[in-house]
Amino acid sequence: MSDFKKIVAANWKMKLNVGQSLELADAMASQFQDFSKQEVVICPDFLTLSLVGEKIKKTALKLGAQDMFWEERGSYTGEISPADLKELGCQYVILGHSERRGYLDEDYSIINKKVKAALKVGLTPIMCVGEKEEEKNNGQRDEVLQEQIRQGLSDIKLDAGQSLVLAYEPIWAIGSGQAIKDSDIQGSYSAIRSALKEILPEQHNEVFTIYGGSVDSDNVSQFAQAEEIDGLLVGGASLEAGEFFRIADNMIK
Ligand code: PGA
Repeated sequence: MSDFKKIVAANWKMKLNVGQSLELADAMASQFQDFSKQEVVICPDFLTLSLVGEKIKKTALKLGAQDMFWEERGSYTGEISPADLKELGCQYVILGHSERRGYLDEDYSIINKKVKAALKVGLTPIMCVGEKEEEKNNGQRDEVLQEQIRQGLSDIKLDAGQSLVLAYEPIWAIGSGQAIKDSDIQGSYSAIRSALKEILPEQHNEVFTIYGGSVDSDNVSQFAQAEEIDGLLVGGASLEAGEFFRIADNMIK
């Protein structure tokens, strides 16, 4: 079991050019200079990953990637090796983000291979799940989340020292300015927990269940108070160091 209780990760997506990523890394390094609370992770794009890693290495901030391939080495043109991410100082990797599921047709059999490969090299996977708006409106939310978890975590076993993060990101909440309502937290996370109990009967307590989708410093207290939520995956609001600091500082007590 990890020695920290909450995790807040910044997902910069493909929103910044190289210069902007480096500037933001500098701003994060100075904003988080005296911040010692665990566990805050920055996930830049691949091209700036090692440069950003250099800039934040004197702080408590951790480095994460936004994706990776499921093999460590071989004839896989254009792909990114999990072993190389590890070598470059990454500790986390986001897997199965809905933007990759949507634009690149990633499904949970692919995501499952990636989760296994990440654990194998010692990266902590942040596996994303989340329902579409129409699935929510049709009352299919719980069923969709549970099936995603069953497939994504099929045949997974956590060895000593390995952690797993499950990010619940309702697709309709991402970048929409409309986060999940308080009244929906309990229902969705209890569906998630029961699927985790089924798939990892002895280790479900070791899985961090975090939330992502339109989190900002105005609504963070809602998530900080929710017992079910062990952390946050932050997109838009992680692109400004002061705003991201307020979120992390409020979330992690
Ligand atoms: P958002 O993105 O915070 O901009 O809604 C979250 C995510 O996609 O991880």
